[in-house]
Amino acid sequence: MTIDHPTLKQLVMDIFAAAGSHHHEAERIAHYLVEANLVEHDSHGVIQVPRYIERLRAGEISCNQTVEIVTENEVLTVLDGQLGFGQVIGEEAMRIALDKCAKFGLALVALRNSGHLGRIGDWAEMAAREGMISIHFVNTSGGGILVAPYGGTERRLSADPIAAGVPVPGGPPIILDISTCTIAEGKIRVAANQGATVPEGSILDGQGRPTIDPQAFYASPKGAILPLGGHKGFALGVIVEVLAGALSGGSCSRPGTKVVSNNMLTIVIDPARLRARRDFDGDVADFTTWVKSAATATPDGEILMPGEPEHRSKVKRLRDGIPLDETTWSQLQAVAGSLRIPAR
Ligand SMILES: NC(=O)c1ccc[n+]([C@@H]2O[C@H](COP(=O)([O-])OP(=O)(O)OC[C@H]3O[C@@H](n4cnc5c(N)ncnc54)[C@H](O)[C@@H]3O)[C@@H](O)[C@H]2O)c1
Repeated sequence: MTIDHPTLKQLVMDIFAAAGSHHHEAERIAHYLVEANLVEHDSHGVIQVPRYIERLRAGEISCNQTVEIVTENEVLTVLDGQLGFGQVIGEEAMRIALDKCAKFGLALVALRNSGHLGRIGDWAEMAAREGMISIHFVNTSGGGILVAPYGGTERRLSADPIAAGVPVPGGPPIILDISTCTIAEGKIRVAANQGATVPEGSILDGQGRPTIDPQAFYASPKGAILPLGGHKGFALGVIVEVLAGALSGGSCSRPGTKVVSNNMLTIVIDPARLRARRDFDGDVADFTTWVKSAATATPDGEILMPGEPEHRSKVKRLRDGIPLDETTWSQLQAVAGSLRIPAR
């Protein structure tokens, strides 16, 4: 089925409002989840709604929280997200980072104990809209252990995404937004819901054998995701765990907790404090032109900058609607029904 984004957003808003969120929070959760569907990161879209509601009912996250400042000076801030919804907590953390960066040219915010922060590229896009460069490192303290270390077969690390954004005047920003493992867990769930397979070389089953069956990942014993590019992705993941987890105080991946809390280290830079803005923008534009001038691997191929695929998907899905598989739709209907929201 295909659904238009305002209808989907309204359904998600109604669900979170009925679950206890104030209007602002319900709107922000719906906005970011539907935005992930619009940019074709369905793994971080409305497929997350049933899990967010489960976590709320289990008391793992709470409605209507705000960030608490643990410690701060002009450029450094440590925040506690108090296990509130990441869509609100992440936005508040970014607001603090961007306001400080506007004043001082640089800001570092270490956020701990946030609910799921969703698509981390959202935070890089928020900074880019205000003309700032940003870098984000995100881990999960313990409930999201998914990834085997290089050379291992058991889960020890979280998906440990890294995002970064560069503003581009008059065009979509350059957005890096990747987990440091071969495939984001949400994409395994999407494949499971669609009855599809996952790419070869991305996951192991519970016996440590390579598999393309997403169900084998969720079976008992559970499988593991492999690090991106072998030892390189593993090394990146280790650094993300330390920067996001140990430095923020939210902790690295560790056994003994089921709570899925995200920690995020964000660095925001105002390029205009380092050199003339037009010179910086000119360098980025020249570099982009140079990169795109490379011969393509196939005759009809095209070179896209990071962030362009998402921008194109958004234009298309705003126009044509968001494709949703039947399993995800019926899961949404079931959650809505459990909150006495009339079926759509
Ligand atoms: N909150 C969390 O704990 C958490 C954990 C893991 C992942 N995530 C999110 O999951 C999402 C998916 O992660 P992923 O690792 O599957 O990402 P991915 O493999 O889909 O890669 C996305 C990145 O690659 C770029 N890209 C894709 N195709 C391209 C092309 N043809 N040319 C140029 N650039 C291209 C995109 O612009 C983007 O920067 C991300 O949004 C990430 O933030 C969140």
